[in-house]
Amino acid sequence: MLNFHKEHKNLVLTAGGVFIALSILIAILPAFQMQKTEPIPDEKPLTANERVGLHVYVSENCMACHTQQVRNIEMDKVWGSRPSIPSDYFYSKQRMDVWRQSPSLLGSERTGPDLTNIGVRQPSEDWHLLHLYNPRAVVSASVMPSYPWLFREVDSSAVNKGDKVVAVPKELFNKPGRKIVASNDALRLVDYLKYLKQTELPGGSVDAFIPALKKIQAERTEGGGQALDGGKLFSQVCAACHQETGKGVVGAFPPLVGSAIVNDANSEKLIRIIIQGYNARPDYGVMPPFGDQLNDAEIAAILTHERSSWGNAAPAVTVEDVAKIRQYVEMELNK
Ligand code: HEC
Ligand code: HEC
Repeated sequence: MLNFHKEHKNLVLTAGGVFIALSILIAILPAFQMQKTEPIPDEKPLTANERVGLHVYVSENCMACHTQQVRNIEMDKVWGSRPSIPSDYFYSKQRMDVWRQSPSLLGSERTGPDLTNIGVRQPSEDWHLLHLYNPRAVVSASVMPSYPWLFREVDSSAVNKGDKVVAVPKELFNKPGRKIVASNDALRLVDYLKYLKQTELPGGSVDAFIPALKKIQAERTEGGGQALDGGKLFSQVCAACHQETGKGVVGAFPPLVGSAIVNDANSEKLIRIIIQGYNARPDYGVMPPFGDQLNDAEIAAILTHERSSWGNAAPAVTVEDVAKIRQYVEMELNK
């Protein structure tokens, strides 16, 4: 028997041996295994700009509150269409520089939402910039800090052609003749946030990863028969900008309450705005198009909700109305 009490060598050698064995088992072998990771076929590499944004993300320590990992459990299903796999991180694996390893952005704190799929959930640059300038401008109860140092205040006359002016509501910034301009860091950070999209796995192989997938699909088809809930869809898709109250954010996203376009008995312009997006006024941001994300029935349900809520009282929009306008829009595009 080894005598640990009298022979210190035995103690040191045994502890040392166990330490080395465990290091090989839990650090070195997995590291070799990770080298074999390949990107998913459709996965896009980071562009130079997006990589700069990744560095800003790391230096601002956004991962203190945001994860980038969808776990294979029910409650994570809102953050992506499948659980994350090692290949998802292929392009952030590159070293940051000579001194620093690739950053681990999986995160462990989820004070704010998971950002794995934020590029899909929120593709609007205007929204992201205003949110970074002051999260309370778009999400009134947000506890996320503001990042004013990513923006510059300049004289209106000093705004250059390439500068991105941020549409900030008057309550937050009201100095006549002055404007808020996004810094290069802010723009690159938003490039990176818009890059964050879950890559679809090549057809069919999904099942192996997601036992819950069949259940999700079944729910979708079952739900398909029932009437769509326009209010719920509005909360999911539109409220981030136009707010749950429909009042919008003055100076950035227009109110839908009392809007002449929303209440117009002829719904053509309204439907076009949803399908094609809208950028009519310089004092507001840009509304992204939703034609690809929402089907005709969903658009009809959302618009009917908008036209009958918060005091608005206009006739319902039908699926046929939307289908007709979509056809016009497609015809115009094919000309
Ligand atoms: C103190 C914790 C905290 C830090 C640090 C933080 N956030 Fe947030 N973040 C939140 C919370 C809470 C929310 C949810 C409320 C909101 O949307 O503002 C949020 C929301 C977001 C959203 C919207 C997510 C969605 O699904 O709508 C984005 C994008 C975001 N944060 C990006 C960032 C970036 C980029 C940084 C670093 C510059 C950062 N956050 C730093 C707490 C934080
Ligand atoms: C990323 C932010 C954003 C989201 C999300 C968004 N919008 Fe908009 N929306 C805007 C902006 C900005 C404008 C104003 C554009 C302009 O006038 O130049 C606008 C304008 C509108 C208008 C015209 C209102 C008026 O009176 O001028 C309607 C109607 C509208 N949006 C409906 C919707 C609906 C319905 C959804 C959800 C399917 C939605 N929006 C989602 C940003 C957004």
